[in-house]
Amino acid sequence: MLKVQENMIVEFSAPLLERFAEVVARYPEGRHKSALLPILHLVQAEYGWLSVDAMDKVAAYLGIQPIEVYEVATFYTMFFLQPKGKYVLEVCRTGPCCLVGAERIMKHIETRLGVKEGEVTADGMFSWRGVECIAACGFGPVLQIGPEYTFYENLTENSVDKLIEELRHKAETN
Ligand code: FES
Repeated sequence: MLKVQENMIVEFSAPLLERFAEVVARYPEGRHKSALLPILHLVQAEYGWLSVDAMDKVAAYLGIQPIEVYEVATFYTMFFLQPKGKYVLEVCRTGPCCLVGAERIMKHIETRLGVKEGEVTADGMFSWRGVECIAACGFGPVLQIGPEYTFYENLTENSVDKLIEELRHKAETN
């Protein structure tokens, strides 16, 4: 398991700052705060997650308070506030999926990967977490993998093992 970093100090690159400026330019003068969500997505795409330092620097860039950035980043579950694996297996843990084995699947993933929810495997490849309903209730147990949010439905222990192997293979051959 990777040691979870307390913080990650970042220095936004010139190309990233250019992209920030393009986003800000979409909004009327004085409405720069509206650029917060797309800018957080850009930062997460660049660094993999949002550290406190990264959020503070976004706040400084937009001329808003850090708390305004934290409020948004902690509200939306698509933002990660600690390091994550290259692949994040997000298993639906809402009632209907639990009735058909979601908890068993999460336990299996934990054992198979050797990391607890939110932790990252030593090779940096995987992390996993339970999420609320992802609107595939008729096909549970189900998980999704971002950033494309590909769905894997009717999961069994075997299909999860196969998926993990496929993802490993894909990462090694890319
Ligand atoms: Fe699992 Fe809806 S309850 S997808």
